[in-house]
Amino acid sequence: MKYFLIATVLGYIFTLPVYADSDRFPPVTNDLTKKECGACHMTFQPQLLPERSWKAIMTDLDNHFGEDASLDKETTYHIEEYLMKNAADTGWSSFWGSDMLRGVKKSQIPLRITKLPYWVHEHAEELSPSVWKRSDIRSKANCLACHLDADQGYYEDD
Ligand code: HEC
Ligand code: HEC
Repeated sequence: MKYFLIATVLGYIFTLPVYADSDRFPPVTNDLTKKECGACHMTFQPQLLPERSWKAIMTDLDNHFGEDASLDKETTYHIEEYLMKNAADTGWSSFWGSDMLRGVKKSQIPLRITKLPYWVHEHAEELSPSVWKRSDIRSKANCLACHLDADQGYYEDD
């Protein structure tokens, strides 16, 4: 029993995700957010956009990039709170977010990750423009098409 416990504890320690790596974003942990914001596309990690962007997105869900993604008040508030608390410019999240927010002015409210100067820069270097027309990719927002573990927060290896 004793050895079993030690093994279990050690196993747990060694499988703890290592987030102290700026290339791995913490995976989304909030169940409601995963359910509601993962219905049409991957649930984007909150660290990919600043607080003011999530606020703007959550305030305009019935007019969401051409779709009606509206939710009841309580659900909206719950998700909004989670996203804002873990945004690119809040607390520890700026560890990942500061890269994402490079070149974004405080007065700007970006609504797309894929329009952030850093994102555009990272994706212009290695990819030819024609890649976005491929039928298996379709959209810049389709992170999972190239970053196979994007929903786990991995973007470095594709
Ligand atoms: C009814 C379907 C639907 C739901 C539900 C939905 N979205 Fe979207 N979302 C879209 C569409 C469509 C786009 C545009 C995708 C594209 O450009 O390919 C989009 C784009 C986005 C983008 C911008 C992606 C980029 O280009 O950088 C963000 C951020 C986003 N959604 C967040 C959310 C959040 C947060 C929720 C949950 C509250 C949510 N979405 C729920 C349909 C949805
Ligand atoms: C057409 C394929 C493709 C799509 C779609 C795509 N990416 Fe990328 N992404 C790449 C490539 C290629 C690179 C540069 C090589 C690398 O660092 O892996 C890259 C780099 C990145 C980086 C920098 C990683 C680093 O090196 O630190 C981030 C962050 C990133 N992508 C996030 C995203 C997000 C978020 C989405 C969806 C909103 C997305 N990508 C969609 C191909 C893609």
